[in-house]
Amino acid sequence: MNTVNILAEKKILLGVTGGIAVYKAVELCSKLVQARANVQVLMTRSAQKFVQPLTFGAMSGRPPITDLWQLYQGDKIGHVTLAHEADLFIIAPLTAHTLARLAQGMADGPITATALSTRAPLLIAPAMESNMWEHPATQANLQLLVGRGATVVGPEAGRLASGKIGRGRMTEPAVIQEHARMVLGRTGPLSGLRITITSGGTREWVDPVRFMGNRASGKMGVALARMARDQGAQVNLIYGAMSVEPPLGVNLVEAIRAEDMLRATLDLLPDTDILISAAAIADFRPVTTHGSKLKKESGRGIQLERTPDVLKAVAEQRAKLGMPKLVVGFAAETSDLITNATRKLESKSLEMIVLNDITAADAGFGVDTNRVTILTRDGAAETLPLMDKEEVAFNILHRIRGLLGAQSIGWSPGIGSVISS
Ligand code: CTP
Repeated sequence: MNTVNILAEKKILLGVTGGIAVYKAVELCSKLVQARANVQVLMTRSAQKFVQPLTFGAMSGRPPITDLWQLYQGDKIGHVTLAHEADLFIIAPLTAHTLARLAQGMADGPITATALSTRAPLLIAPAMESNMWEHPATQANLQLLVGRGATVVGPEAGRLASGKIGRGRMTEPAVIQEHARMVLGRTGPLSGLRITITSGGTREWVDPVRFMGNRASGKMGVALARMARDQGAQVNLIYGAMSVEPPLGVNLVEAIRAEDMLRATLDLLPDTDILISAAAIADFRPVTTHGSKLKKESGRGIQLERTPDVLKAVAEQRAKLGMPKLVVGFAAETSDLITNATRKLESKSLEMIVLNDITAADAGFGVDTNRVTILTRDGAAETLPLMDKEEVAFNILHRIRGLLGAQSIGWSPGIGSVISS
């Protein structure tokens, strides 16, 4: 894996079966193509009644396969070639009928024949009328596919084509795309590793209305969690206040105050191989949290006390547990950058610290980009150019793997510049 975008260059088969949700499959196809995947669409006859193959052809740059016999061309048997080369087979929407045919192992159309021939993971997004979905026959068929390793996304509850409210709507394309990333990443370079990431900012309550907080958006922690998930890690995301949605497929633990971050982090330590502390954790909290809203007349200043230093507590536990194997911190600095970050690296017993200059307008809090310097215990300090937070996350994870002494993940060096070592 040598790219931040796990979908890039992947060979994805998109099977489209006939239901009103076919229009959403057009959007899914478009999203996958925009993510630079090579998409080959296969359609059943009934799918073509909802949307012309031309639409998918224009979108994917390849004519869709609409007929089993279209697959037998020249000296190659098309469905076998397609099936063998595929990285992932998505069927969205999947009707009750094709689900039944897949469960029975039939090969009477391009989608079912290809599904039998491929060893690529199967991701299905069923969509049908709610009674059909709930029918024991459909559920039994579904269990057969799940038992054979298929990943099922949806269906969702909501308003159906029949006008009824019920479960049967196809999951939104953006969500299916996230699942596609997850399935593709399952056997990635971090598979087998448990990574705990803290993200966002803490809030220390003054009264039920007011808190002491900070500008952290959670974007860096979320990017790390998503990238680690895409590389096969089992991810815990301990999150405080965030302005971004956490990614799918990670274990979420909410922790609003520094004290909550401490408890959540320590609880997960025995099951954590790598801890990345990206959260902006408060250093002070009000001595008293008032149970009712403070009146302005009573405002005589807020007395503060120190909060626990989570990473220092981790260092103590780690000495007893032998876990995590590796701890990474962040240093948000405004001056004496390297000196301050190096001091934190040592005082918090970290293997790596990611330093960012929060005075820069295009890096740090709230923005989508970051410019970081990665410092390690051997004294190396590597400054990466300004990049998207997902790229920063990718680089951090790559270097973590390097420290773990694991096999190279194929990242070509040269993206960063070593400023001292
Ligand atoms: N951190 C922590 N517990 C705290 C505060 C911070 O574990 N109470 C972690 C952060 O998640 C980060 C690292 O320590 O990984 C450095 O955080 P930073 O705010 O830069 O430094 P502080 O230790 O808070 O020191 P200072 O505010 O004096 O710079």
